Amino acid sequence: MDRIRIVGGHRLMGAIPISGAKNAALPLMIAALLTDGTLTLENLPRLADVSQLARILANHGVDYTIEGKRIGDSEVQGQTVHLSARQIVDTTAPYDLVSRMRASFWVLAPLVARMGEAKVSLPGGCAIGTRPVDLLLMAMERLGAEIEIENGYAVAKARNGLRGADIDFPKVTVGGTHTALMAASLAHGTTVIHNAAREPEIVDLADCLVKMGAKIKGAGSKTIEISGVSRLTGARHAVLPDRIEAGTYAMAVAMTGGDVLLQGARAELLQSALDAVVRSGATVAETNEGIRVYRNGAGIQPVDVSTDPFPGFPTDLQAQFMALMTRAEGTSRITETIFENRFMHVAELARFGAHIRLDGDTAIVEGVARLKGAPVMATDLRASVSLVIAALAAEGETMVNRVYHLDRGFEALEKKLGACGAEIERLSSGG
Ligand code: EPZ
Repeated sequence: MDRIRIVGGHRLMGAIPISGAKNAALPLMIAALLTDGTLTLENLPRLADVSQLARILANHGVDYTIEGKRIGDSEVQGQTVHLSARQIVDTTAPYDLVSRMRASFWVLAPLVARMGEAKVSLPGGCAIGTRPVDLLLMAMERLGAEIEIENGYAVAKARNGLRGADIDFPKVTVGGTHTALMAASLAHGTTVIHNAAREPEIVDLADCLVKMGAKIKGAGSKTIEISGVSRLTGARHAVLPDRIEAGTYAMAVAMTGGDVLLQGARAELLQSALDAVVRSGATVAETNEGIRVYRNGAGIQPVDVSTDPFPGFPTDLQAQFMALMTRAEGTSRITETIFENRFMHVAELARFGAHIRLDGDTAIVEGVARLKGAPVMATDLRASVSLVIAALAAEGETMVNRVYHLDRGFEALEKKLGACGAEIERLSSGG
């Protein structure tokens, strides 16, 4: 199993190209199931989760081709892929495929919308909490699907097609909103989603669906209206830049000091996180090319944050911000309101010498003057990258184990950081 070795203490200087967003790429790829035309996605990141989803889609009959590289293309440039679901050959998504990635459960919506049936393994628990799918199933039922749970599978049927309805989510859910958007696009009549998620990845999916012929109004607000159409077509769409990757590197620079341009990053996609980075003492400036983050000399200031659905502080940056706060000149409080168990990184950060105490849904982080490198590992992808951030600022050597978590969501991490002066290398199995 690969490991990443980091020797801390180097300031980050240079430029980091920001990849396409994993959490936009996954629902966009799934949307290919809605049409017999070809969906072309540009700027798709090279990630383990993208390859895993491509395997799942292939099982349903999606033809997946990657455009070749051209001279002059850079290694970290996103790829262009063509997805074509001319015929759905299988409406079952089996346990061994779905259990590895929760977002693959989202195939349920387009399969039912297009084929009138789907049998999808329930995703089960994961390292950040129980993460049920009751609201996704509720949305499908509101649209007229009949759903039974049989042997660990959700079996959904809508023999006469789905019909538009009011869907009122009692809690903001990204996956629930993606599900409702995809299913309602091919339902008879009008659907209104109340309390919809407003994440930029929702807007990206809606934009792509509109290019495919869907009629959607209000994506990015709390109320989305969809007038169903009988057929969607192929389209071409570029995946939006990854705000979580950009926020992660912004926090890394705030931690080590230095000056880095996050190329292609868009500040409006992560304003609340950038505000927290600024309050910690770094400077953030928007440029034509992206976002420039720098911090010189002065210490890191403690900042309290609480995660919230967009436009609030993202739960997917909570672990990284906690890593930054471990070196603050004072005490900060970090509250997690989205997932009940997303503090797996706390014990690992303590291995660097961080002082963190948990009090219910809040981590109380008492900043320390120095961190010291250590062997560490983590059980989810954002937690893993928080350990990388701590390691970049720690004295001496850190070995990050279980690197496959990082490969799920960070494209060319060690190359991007290495190019900015970090001492970081990947050691392959046995290396
Ligand atoms: C998406 O997960 C993201 N995943 C997550 O990113 C992200 O942390 C999360 O949204 C919140 O922003 C992808 O986009 C692939 P939710 P999702 O439905 O859609 C509860 C990462 O690291 N809930 O918005 O699964 C749920 O338990 C990942 O990239 C129900 O109770 O999240 C949670 O408490 C991790 N019933 C809250 O809602 C349901 O049916 C929000 O979850 C669905 C969700």
